[in-house]
Amino acid sequence: MTTDLSPIRPPAYDAGARFLHWSMAVLILLAFVLGLTIDAFPTVLKHAAIEAHKVMGLALILLLVARLAWRLAHRPPPLEPASPLMTAAAHLGHVGLYALMLVVPVIGVVYAIKRGQGLDLGFFGIPPFTAPAPRAETRPLREWHEWTAYALIALAGLHALVALWHHAVKKDGTLRRMLPR
Ligand code: HEM
Ligand code: HEM
Repeated sequence: MTTDLSPIRPPAYDAGARFLHWSMAVLILLAFVLGLTIDAFPTVLKHAAIEAHKVMGLALILLLVARLAWRLAHRPPPLEPASPLMTAAAHLGHVGLYALMLVVPVIGVVYAIKRGQGLDLGFFGIPPFTAPAPRAETRPLREWHEWTAYALIALAGLHALVALWHHAVKKDGTLRRMLPR
C-alpha cells in the first residue's frame, strides 16, 4: 500500500531505466574491483576470477545495448531548471559515461581474444578464436583497458558526488529521479 496521496508526482526515470542504471552501476564497480585484484587471487582461484570478470563485462555489454535502446525510445524526464552551462556539463558527463561504458568492456573483449582466451564457465564455454598473440603486442590493449576503466570510475565517482550534492546541498529532486518511487 502506498502512503503517497499526492496526485502529482515529480518527473522521474521509469522502473526499467532505474533497474538498468543501478544494476550496471553495481556490476561496473564489481568488475573494476575484481579486475584490479585478480593478481592477488591464489593460483587455484585465478582462472575462475578472470572468467567471472569477463562474464560481468559481457553482461554489461548486453545491459548497455538494452539501455541505449531505452534511451533512444524515451525522452529522459525533464531536468531541474539550471543554467545552460550546467545543463551542457550534465549532458556531456552522461555522454562520456555512455562512451566509457562501451569502450572499456569492448577493449576487454578484444584483449581477451588476442590473448587467445575463450570463455570457460564450466557448464558452458566458448573456445578461443585465435592463438595467443605475444604479450608485447597485447600489452597496450591491456593498458588501454585499465586506463579507460580508471576514467570510467573517476567520471562515475564525480557524477555520484554531483547527484549527492544536488540532494544534500541544493535539496532538489535530481537524485529522487533515479530512486524507487
Ligand atoms: C565495464 C566493464 C569492465 C571493467 C570496469 C573492467 C576493468 C578491468 C580492470 C581494472 C582490469 C585490471 C587491469 C590491469 O591490472 O592491467 C581488468 C583486467 C582484465 N579484463 Fe576487464 N573490465 C571490464 C570488462 C571486461 C570484459 C568484457 C572482458 C572480456 C570479456 C575483460 C577482460 C579482462 C582481462 C582478460 C583482464 C586481465 C586479467 C588478468 O589476466 O589479470 N574485461 N579489467
Ligand atoms: C558506475 C556508476 C554509474 C554510471 C556509469 C552512471 C551513469 C549514468 C548515466 C549515463 C546517466 C544518464 C541517464 C540518461 O538520462 O540517459 C545517469 C543518471 C543518473 N545517475 Fe548515474 N551512474 C552511476 C552511478 C550513480 C550513483 C552512485 C548515483 C547516486 C549517488 C547516480 C545518480 C544518478 C542520477 C540521480 C541520475 C539522473 C540525473 C539526471 O537525470 O540528471 N549514478 N547515470
